[in-house]
Formats: sequence, structure tokens, C-alpha cells
Amino acid sequence: MNTIRTLALASAALFATSLVHAQNKLKVGLMLPATGTFASLGTAIENGFRLYVTEQGGKLSGREIEFVKVDDESDPAKATDNVNKLIKRDNVDVLVGTVHSGVAMAMAKVAKETGTPFIVANAGAGAITGPMCAQNIFRSSFSNWQPGYAMGDVVAKKGHKKVVTITWKYAAGDESVAGFKESFEKAGGQVVKELNVPFPNVEFQALLTEIAATKPDAVYTFFAGGGAVKFVKDYAAAGLRKSIPLYGAGFLTDGTLEAQGADADGILTTLHYSDQLNTPRDSAFRLAYAKQFKLQPDVYAVQGYDAAQMLAAGLSAVKGDLSRKAEFAAGIEKARIDSPRGPFTVSRSHNPVQDIYLRQVTGKENKLVGIASKSLADPGRGCRL
Ligand code: PHB
Repeated sequence: MNTIRTLALASAALFATSLVHAQNKLKVGLMLPATGTFASLGTAIENGFRLYVTEQGGKLSGREIEFVKVDDESDPAKATDNVNKLIKRDNVDVLVGTVHSGVAMAMAKVAKETGTPFIVANAGAGAITGPMCAQNIFRSSFSNWQPGYAMGDVVAKKGHKKVVTITWKYAAGDESVAGFKESFEKAGGQVVKELNVPFPNVEFQALLTEIAATKPDAVYTFFAGGGAVKFVKDYAAAGLRKSIPLYGAGFLTDGTLEAQGADADGILTTLHYSDQLNTPRDSAFRLAYAKQFKLQPDVYAVQGYDAAQMLAAGLSAVKGDLSRKAEFAAGIEKARIDSPRGPFTVSRSHNPVQDIYLRQVTGKENKLVGIASKSLADPGRGCRL
């Protein structure tokens, strides 16, 4: 066969493949909590993802988006079965999820084994962009280390010397506290006690009594969703608000302020989003989100929106053909994601390199105080890519 004919046949084949892809729906497996302490976080992620897809006319790179949903209940014990259902029974092309680090690690394991593209839209487990990192795994959110590490410096600069930490005993809590401790102790502070409750337990009374007896200069905490609402209310009810300042990773007060009311007023947290960024990009996002869902967006909504933007960046690099795995990954690696939080790129291990804001609760909003850590990159310890 001569060269010209070979080339002609090859380009005809390529044209045919892209036509087939353009006609095929792209199945997105959404694995999120619809029940339990993180249920509202799952809704916000899904809403954010759908908003971006709607803005693109329901299609990404010519492929109509179809959703297949699973309620993962934030239960790591059910995670492998749930993700296998999506991949093997429903044949999803892409996995998007989830909130809970333990569930997300099970998803990452299966994604890595099967090569299914996976975009983590919340869970901050260090392992996912550390030892488990892979060409097909990306995160649109944060690593648990990032807000914790940024807060260690803030609390040290406030002049606090002795801090008690309190969190759920699982990857997210452990890693958030470890990040905090790393920078706080580097700056001369000391974590004098690390308190824990099992996830998703919200019986805080005994530990609040212990904090009162220990009399630290401040408390650092990681809680989220329903657990965060209860913790902030219990902290105030125990009379600790005035005597011992409470700091946290920003999940403590994100998507929770309606329920926390005045008990959250004044709390300082660190996170990659704030309700008052006042950039044209964020204002447009907030308006569109409120219009479509009759809800105020939060950090989870942003992460869902950006998961869809990352998928779009990858798909655009391969014209909708997900079989071109290396080019799909390179498309996201090279992208500058125009996020409502501010533009970001991903690190070598596929985690957002982003500003971590210092925020303060004022009424029903996490008001911007400043930037706690500029362009903070997770170190990606243990990732070989
Ligand atoms: C996590 O499990 O990684 C996690 C859960 C809820 C959050 C943040 C992190 O708000």
C-alpha cells in the first residue's frame, strides 16, 4: 500500500472514530453521599458539576453527558462494591466523587486498576495524590494537608503557644491535624493534646470538658457537614467560645452557617474559597448557581463545578475520545482552570496549587480576611508519576 493511501485510510478512520464519539453519550458515574452527615455536601458537588455542564449546553467536546448515580453513604465498607457497580455494571466512562477520604481511597484503588478516569471532587486524602497517585486520577478540591498547614502559621502569628486539636478519627481528621501541627510547631507552637471521636460520631461533651480543664490558648479542629454544625453549637453551649478561641479548616463553617447561626460568628478558618471574593468570575458563578438551584453556593459547589471544568479540559485535548489516555491526562495537566476560587493549575501529583484564604464568619458568610498561604502546593509525598 502506498503512503498516500495509508494516510487517507488512517485519517478516514480517525474521522469515523470522532464521529462515533460525538454521537455517543459520555457516562459520568457520580459517587456521592446522599444520606448521612455529608449529604448536603454531595448535593452541592452534584449541583456544581451540573451547572457547568448546563452552561456548555449539556455537552462536553460534542458528547452529551449522562449521569449514573450512587449514594455511597460515606461508608468505606461499601465503597469497593459501589464503585465496581458503576464501572462494571453501568460501564461509566468517568468517575466523579466523593466527600469522604476513606471512600475516595477505595475508589482510587479501583480507578487505578481499571484505568478509569477519576476526578476527586472533595476528599482530601493525602494518599490519593501521594503513594496512590496515577496518570488517570485528578483532584479538583484540596489535600487535607493544605488548609491545616496554612492555619498553623495563622495561629502561631496570633501569638498562641499551646493548642489542643479535636477531630474525627479517620484520614481527613488525622491529616488536617498533621498539616496544622507541621507548620504550627515549626513556628514554635506546641500541640499539647490531640482529641478524637470516631467518624461520624457527634458526642462531643466529654472532650469539651477535657478542653475546658486543659485550658489551651486555642483549639484547632476539622469537622464538616452535620458534624461541624453540631460541634460549633456544642462548643458555644459549653461556654468555651469566649475563653478559648476556635480555629478550623474552613469546612467547619462552609455550607453550615444557616444551621449554626450566631454560634459561628467570628470564627476564623482557612480554605481555598470564601463567600466574598468579589471577582467577576466568582460573582457570575454565584449568581448562576443561586438562579439554577435556589441555594447559595459553597466550597463543595465550586469543587463540583471545577471537576466538570477539568473533565472538559481533558476531553477537549482528545476531541471527546477517552481512549487517548495519555493525551487526556496531559490536557488537564496543562490546563489553567478558571475556577470561581481563582485560577489554578494542578501539581505534578494532580492536586490543585491554590491560594488558601483566611476567612471570618460574619453573619451568614465566610468573609475574606486575606490570603493565609499563596499558591500552596501539596508536597505530594510518595507520588511517583
Ligand atoms: C474528607 O473525608 O476528606 C473530607 C470530608 C469532608 C470535608 C473535607 C474533607 O468537608
